[in-house]
Amino acid sequence: MKDKYWLMGPIYDALSYLFAGNSLLKCKCSMLTSDHLKSGDKVLFAGVGHGKEAILAAEQGADVTVVDLSEAMLTKFKVGVEKSEKNLNIRIIHRDIMTFEEFSHYDMVVANFFLNSFDEAFMTSVFSHLIKQGKAGAHIVVGDFAFPEGNIIARATKQFYWYSAIILFWMTTGASVHPVYNHVAQMKKMGLTFIDKKHTTLLGMNTYTSYLGKKA
Ligand SMILES: C[S@@+](CC[C@H](N)C(=O)[O-])C[C@H]1O[C@@H](n2cnc3c(N)ncnc32)[C@H](O)[C@@H]1O
Repeated sequence: MKDKYWLMGPIYDALSYLFAGNSLLKCKCSMLTSDHLKSGDKVLFAGVGHGKEAILAAEQGADVTVVDLSEAMLTKFKVGVEKSEKNLNIRIIHRDIMTFEEFSHYDMVVANFFLNSFDEAFMTSVFSHLIKQGKAGAHIVVGDFAFPEGNIIARATKQFYWYSAIILFWMTTGASVHPVYNHVAQMKKMGLTFIDKKHTTLLGMNTYTSYLGKKA
């Protein structure tokens, strides 16, 4: 099967930096704090991409598994791993996440800017599949563009920002174009306890959000 990220893969993080400076990485790391992540925790990163945050989790002592369907993305991820000075516990799996089944195995499951690639029906199936990989009480982390809230200007700016990104990804990777997902509602619908959300700002506006849920 053709790698949908053959074009984006080599430039993904550089483009993200141009688009958002450090805010995207900040968002992706925002739940990887000592409150939620302990040394030795088993953590799954689904659709890891270049995965600097997965490397950071491993540097904090986590036992990390990353899964991604794109060879181009994983090539960049491996370069990041090689650059780390530390002896990291990272397992790299090149596979469709829907065929990856290590049910009830992980303390934390992370889906950063991953669920938003899919249309709502498939996103719900992928999310449900990810939740199954977590142990009872596992943390489930989702990073995404901020849900459009606030006054009319804030909502319009967030919509514009989201649609300009997703249209670019639709053109280059075939991602689905849809409104920003409401992950708080989605987590509750999937039976998770919603714990927290952390916003990351860009030019003073809440632009990205990391959501934390807990499996029963
Ligand atoms: C928009 S990128 C996000 C990458 C990274 N998580 C980040 O936050 O920068 C989506 C990633 O999901 C991967 N992906 C898409 N569909 C997948 C699937 N079915 N199984 C595993 N990975 C998939 C892509 O290859 C890509 O690396």
